Amino acid sequence: MARSPTRSADHVDPDPGFAGNLPAVAPIAVLISGTGSNLRQILEYQHSNDTSYEVAVVIADRHAAGLQWADQHNIPSVVVLWNNNRRTFTTEICDRIDDFGCEWVILAGFMRILSAEAIARFRGRIINIHPSLLPEFPGAHAVEAALAAGVDRTGVTVHFVVEEVDAGPIIAQREVPVLPGDTTDSLHARIQIQEHDLYPTVVDALAAGRITTEVQT
Ligand code: GRF
Repeated sequence: MARSPTRSADHVDPDPGFAGNLPAVAPIAVLISGTGSNLRQILEYQHSNDTSYEVAVVIADRHAAGLQWADQHNIPSVVVLWNNNRRTFTTEICDRIDDFGCEWVILAGFMRILSAEAIARFRGRIINIHPSLLPEFPGAHAVEAALAAGVDRTGVTVHFVVEEVDAGPIIAQREVPVLPGDTTDSLHARIQIQEHDLYPTVVDALAAGRITTEVQT
């Protein structure tokens, strides 16, 4: 199926009451659950470039290995342990994000689904990175699903977060070929090379207000 590398993202409008008041460098929260390799790239990109964002806090739902990257960059981190109650867990996460005055919420391997409260409180200001060419292969096992389907290409998608999982407006995509003999690990490793190149630039473009209707990265 032929597909465009990008799609319109102009139908998620940031909270209008918020937009008039933005500082030059936008504080962002990065939410993780795992190794945090995307967090690491976002931090290193910030360190090496004159970015429009700065990571104000890293939040994890467990004592994730990726918290080490926050420590290395002297960025505060908060662990909000999953409590089996999506409503109170989401409120706690949103409150911690607000504690640090964050304008953008960057999901980077965060394995919990937040309730509608998060979408309401950070309307149009939450993004996620997903290891497939959405809408193909949504869900937690996108790389395995692409291999099982026998497709010859998959990729990575950065999208706005809406209530329906992995269904928000797409901001940017990169294709990754599936090679003969690929395993989940080998394919995911090549997808992550693209993730690491793409995600910091998208975060920066958002923070700078450069993402309006369509984004080419
Ligand atoms: C990435 O592949 C991302 O697409 C998916 O979770 C993984 C997180 O990897 N949502 P890391 O923790 O950033 O290394």
